[in-house]
Amino acid sequence: MMKEDFSALYEEIDALKKEHNAIVLAHYYARPEVQAAADFLGDSLALSQKAGTTDADIIVFCGVHFMAETASIISPQKKVLIPAQNAGCTLAESATAAGLATWKKYHPDGLVVSYVNTSAEVKAETDYCVTSSNALKVIESLPKDCPILFGPDRNLGAYIMQKTGRTMELWQGDCYVHRHITTELIQSFLEQYPDADVLIHPESVACNDDAILAHPRCFVGSTSGILEHPQRSNKSLFVIATEAEAIVELARRYPDRTFIPIAPEHRCEYMKLTTLEDLRDTLKYMRYEVTVPEEIRAKALLPIQRMLSIH
Ligand code: 13P
Ligand code: SF4
Repeated sequence: MMKEDFSALYEEIDALKKEHNAIVLAHYYARPEVQAAADFLGDSLALSQKAGTTDADIIVFCGVHFMAETASIISPQKKVLIPAQNAGCTLAESATAAGLATWKKYHPDGLVVSYVNTSAEVKAETDYCVTSSNALKVIESLPKDCPILFGPDRNLGAYIMQKTGRTMELWQGDCYVHRHITTELIQSFLEQYPDADVLIHPESVACNDDAILAHPRCFVGSTSGILEHPQRSNKSLFVIATEAEAIVELARRYPDRTFIPIAPEHRCEYMKLTTLEDLRDTLKYMRYEVTVPEEIRAKALLPIQRMLSIH
C-alpha cells in the first residue's frame, strides 16, 4: 500500500504554528501522522506538566476533551484549542459532579482522589487528582487513617489497593478500550509468546489480578512506564497491553525490538477523531476554544496542582 504524503499539510501546520506562537501537544494514542506534527508528545501527566510550563500563546491539544480542559485550568491566560470538539472519554463521562456529591454524603470524612480523566466539575469537588503515572505515590502520601473515595477508574483503583494494601471506596467506571484486556487474554499471549514480556496499563481489567501481578514476565505501568520498560529489559519481544497506538512511540524509541499489540481491534476512537486536516483548520481559524467557568476553575486548580507536585 502506498504511504500517504502529508508533507504539504505539515508545511501549512508549521507556518500557522509560527504565525500564532502555538504549541501542538499530542497524546501517544493520537493518530501516527498527528503525533508526527506535534511539538510535544506525552502521557496525561507529561502533557499537563507541559501545558503549565510552555511559553506559547496558544495550546492546541490533540487528545481528548478532559486533557484540553485540564490545560485551560492550569494556564487560563492561554488560549486552549481542541481540533475535535466531540473527542470525549467514556471513563471521564462515567462520573458527574452530582454523582460525586451524593457519594461524598455517604462518606463525609473521606478524601476524594480523582483520576485526571474527569470533567472540570468533578475536579472542582476533588481533593487530589492523579494520573496513572503518579497514582501510587499520591495515595501513599495521604494519611493512613483517612477513608479514600477513588474514581472513576475501578481498575486503576483496584490495582492501587493491591499494591498499597490500602482499602478505598471505588467509583465503578472504566475505559472502553482497556476493559477488553482481561486475565484470559494476557494468559493466552504469555503462552503464545514465551520469550516476550507483557506490558500492561493499569486501566486494564487484568491489572489487579494476583496471577498477573506475580508473573515474572508481566509489568504493570502507565503509558510512560510502558515506554521506559524496554530500556531496562534484555528482551527483544514485547506484548503491549494498552491502546495499540502506543506502539508508534515504542517502535521509534526501540527500532530493533518487536512490539505486538494485544487488542488492536479495541482502539480509542475518541483519540483518533483528530486528523491532520482538523489540526490545520484549528490553527487556521483559531477554533474550538476550551474554557472553564472561573468559579469551577478556581476550585479545580488545587487538586491538579497537588497532582503536578507529586511525580
Ligand atoms: P496515561 O496517559 O496516564 O497513561 O493514561 C492513558 C489514557 O487512557 C489516557 O486517557
Ligand atoms: Fe478515555 Fe480510554 Fe480513550 Fe483514554 S483510552 S481517552 S481512558 S476512552
